Amino acid sequence: MRAVTWQGKADVQVTDVPDPRIEQPTDVVVKVSSTAICGSDLHLYGPLTPFMTPGDVLGHEFMGTVEEVGTEVGRLRPGDRVVVPFTISCGVCFMCTHGLQSQCETTQVTAFGTGAALFGYTKLYGQVPGGQAEYVRVPQAQYGPIKLPETGPDERWLFLSDILPTAWQAVKYTDIQPGDTVAVVGLGPVGQLATRCAWQQGAARVLGVDLVPERLAMAETHAVEVIDASRVDDVAAAIRELTRGRGADRTIDAVGMEAHGSPVAETAANVVTSMPKPVASALMQSVGVDRLAALETALDAVRRGGTVSLSGVYGGAADPLNLMRLFDKQVTIRMGQANVRRWSDELFDLLYADDDLFGVETLPSHHLPLEDAPDAYRKFRDKEDGYIKVVLRP
Ligand SMILES: NC(=O)c1ccc[n+]([C@@H]2O[C@H](COP(=O)([O-])OP(=O)(O)OC[C@H]3O[C@@H](n4cnc5c(N)ncnc54)[C@H](O)[C@@H]3O)[C@@H](O)[C@H]2O)c1
Ligand SMILES: [Zn+2]
Ligand SMILES: [Zn+2]
Repeated sequence: MRAVTWQGKADVQVTDVPDPRIEQPTDVVVKVSSTAICGSDLHLYGPLTPFMTPGDVLGHEFMGTVEEVGTEVGRLRPGDRVVVPFTISCGVCFMCTHGLQSQCETTQVTAFGTGAALFGYTKLYGQVPGGQAEYVRVPQAQYGPIKLPETGPDERWLFLSDILPTAWQAVKYTDIQPGDTVAVVGLGPVGQLATRCAWQQGAARVLGVDLVPERLAMAETHAVEVIDASRVDDVAAAIRELTRGRGADRTIDAVGMEAHGSPVAETAANVVTSMPKPVASALMQSVGVDRLAALETALDAVRRGGTVSLSGVYGGAADPLNLMRLFDKQVTIRMGQANVRRWSDELFDLLYADDDLFGVETLPSHHLPLEDAPDAYRKFRDKEDGYIKVVLRP
């Protein structure tokens, strides 16, 4: 079959790989109808290079039709339409039953001391072949895949795999109270949905920060008060100015480790990812190489006693943070990969009941054949040609 494979830093290709097959009785094989490229895939394209192996099949946002079913899956049949959560979880362990499916004790990658296995996401997360492919093997299918009705275009459901629950969790983790002002730093696909989830969860005002004109414009159509980070010297000061000098009640970092505006760390990251693999992966695990500009904005712009929620992914082990300032401000910080199945039932109901409550059907800026993935990765990273979210069709 054809699949998007990682071949090297900033080098993905569509290549022939063996068809997946059932390996465990709890597996299914899904024929992919739509698959998206995520900001997290861009980390594999760059800073997480040391943990990749040429030939790795990428992709963790996908949906399609069940093709083959393992003997212990029970709940699914060939022909069922499903969307698959990117965090692979069992549903019965301590973590899963405590709403922490991204920490699943059955799929945790003990060799690296990391949380639940993820599709298409480096050795750190189990090196499980991903879903930017014609077919994909889905482990833990007795619990993971979400069964879908035949109604609605793929775009209605596809984002249940990752970015909608990620955005929902980002807002839930702020412990938002009715009437709060929420500031979202980064208006990529995750940030866009975070602003919409903030409205749904009771925000009175939603502020959004980015530097890409069409992303700012898209947020404005959802009643977000936007700040163009390329036009103000101090974004946190601008947020304070809009909030009586106090800061936002809740801030969300929807950018992560590749923030613009962190020149020193950017150089360090480029040096590290250009080194021989063993050296590079050792360095990544001991040295901070994240670009912290967005996180610093989120921490600076939150009011005293407020909450900062990180959905942006970080990978550096020794990133410097001003703890004194955080302690003094009495800030609460929450973060982590999305516990997709914790939120998917309530989100499914909202998607099912309403006519595109979150505007997910119009979120993708580009729909392309799978074969166009190399170009799409580059344009999505460089934010060229109005790229906001890409859906690939195998
Ligand atoms: N926690 C999870 O489970 C989870 C799931 C999906 C994605 N993510 C992470 O969420 C982050 C965003 O993903 P995405 O798909 O929206 O990616 P994206 O790269 O499209 O979005 C990032 C946005 O941040 C903007 N930005 C960069 N630096 C900034 C700065 N200093 N200030 C303000 N804005 C800045 C960029 O212009 C871009 O629009 C990534 O780190 C991704 O890995 C996490
Ligand atoms: Zn993702
Ligand atoms: Zn589990």
